[in-house]
Amino acid sequence: MRKIYLDHNATTPVSREALDVMLPIFKDGFGNPSSVHSEGRAARVRLDEAREQVAGLIGAQSSEVVFTSGGSESNNFAIFGTAFAPDNNKRHIVTCEVEHAAILNPLKQLEGQGFQVERLPVSRAGRVDPERVKNALTDATLLVTIQHANSEVGTLHDIARIGECVRNKGILFHTDAVQSVGKVPIDVSNLPVDLLSMSSHKLYGPKGVGALFIRRGTPTLFSPVCGGGQEKKRRGGTENVPGIVGFGKACQMAKERIDRGELERLTEMRDQLWEKIEQSVLGAELFGCPDNRLPNTLSCGFEGADGDTLLIALDMEGISVSTGSACSSGTGMPSPVLTAMRVPVEKINSSIRFSLGWGNTLADMDRVVEILAKAIQQNREKSPAYPQAGSID
Ligand SMILES: Cc1ncc(COP(=O)(O)O)c(C=O)c1O
Repeated sequence: MRKIYLDHNATTPVSREALDVMLPIFKDGFGNPSSVHSEGRAARVRLDEAREQVAGLIGAQSSEVVFTSGGSESNNFAIFGTAFAPDNNKRHIVTCEVEHAAILNPLKQLEGQGFQVERLPVSRAGRVDPERVKNALTDATLLVTIQHANSEVGTLHDIARIGECVRNKGILFHTDAVQSVGKVPIDVSNLPVDLLSMSSHKLYGPKGVGALFIRRGTPTLFSPVCGGGQEKKRRGGTENVPGIVGFGKACQMAKERIDRGELERLTEMRDQLWEKIEQSVLGAELFGCPDNRLPNTLSCGFEGADGDTLLIALDMEGISVSTGSACSSGTGMPSPVLTAMRVPVEKINSSIRFSLGWGNTLADMDRVVEILAKAIQQNREKSPAYPQAGSID
């Protein structure tokens, strides 16, 4: 049975190219990049190369890239780093309701310490209105943090416009770009963001590695990991050299794929998947912004069906997806993102997220729709909530 992995927003397989550059470093390239002998210098060279590759993907200078342990740490770094920066005396932060937990939870902690956090609502398509951001800014605002792309529905926020409003007021702007880096072109040299979070395992690199872009000229941040002065004293701890080298390679490959037009292929595949679902399944509903969305992401609901049952039915046929239901989240709460988009709870519990990747094909989409349509039909036949064909009421 051919496996069809459609959960690339959760994580991606490590690419052959990333693995190939990492393995020799695990084996022989063990040097500490802070050491002055030849092993250390060799590791430093590899680290510098990777920093160039990561910077190259987002149009940054390599000195603006600080390596971290992943997207969560990068977000924590941006938030605590600005809140506790030596020169900061402001205590108001603006964000939105559909952020990842690695934004919302650090902010909750800050609230416990007397900071004021404003969580802006989003539209039914999951977008925050830049005008609302502008109106939320006060003299006490130290940071605005709005994600670039949403992991569940793929909606892209207008970070160019938001950043402009924020920058005009001299306030720092952070964006969690963990889901968008490598999936859409990003050029920070043309984008008014001061801080941007990235994660390697979302773009075919290894897990446990990420980066925070810190624009040159940004006031010194508080360092959430204090140690031996690594990363130009911005983040302590001996660097994860093999992981970082794999991340660098993954960024280089992502840039090459974007330049080759692979995003168009993904978009076509995603749109065909949706078209075929609409043709085969009555009452299918798309969640997220139809026009401003990640090319690989399709989130939809199937009235009268149960998302978790569908997930298992698909998994048994070798197809991996995710759901927004309370059971899957492990928190007992339905997806906060779909809730913030005012999707009713029964529809949230019927939702499935398909997140496509480079390894998928158009033929995969045909097979997914065939299995999905069958699973929905079987599930609806057992659902008392769904009117059966021929029923009189
Ligand atoms: C939008 C977003 N931010 C942050 C993270 C956390 O990244 P990491 O898993 O690298 O800590 C994720 C991971 O799912 C994410 O989707």
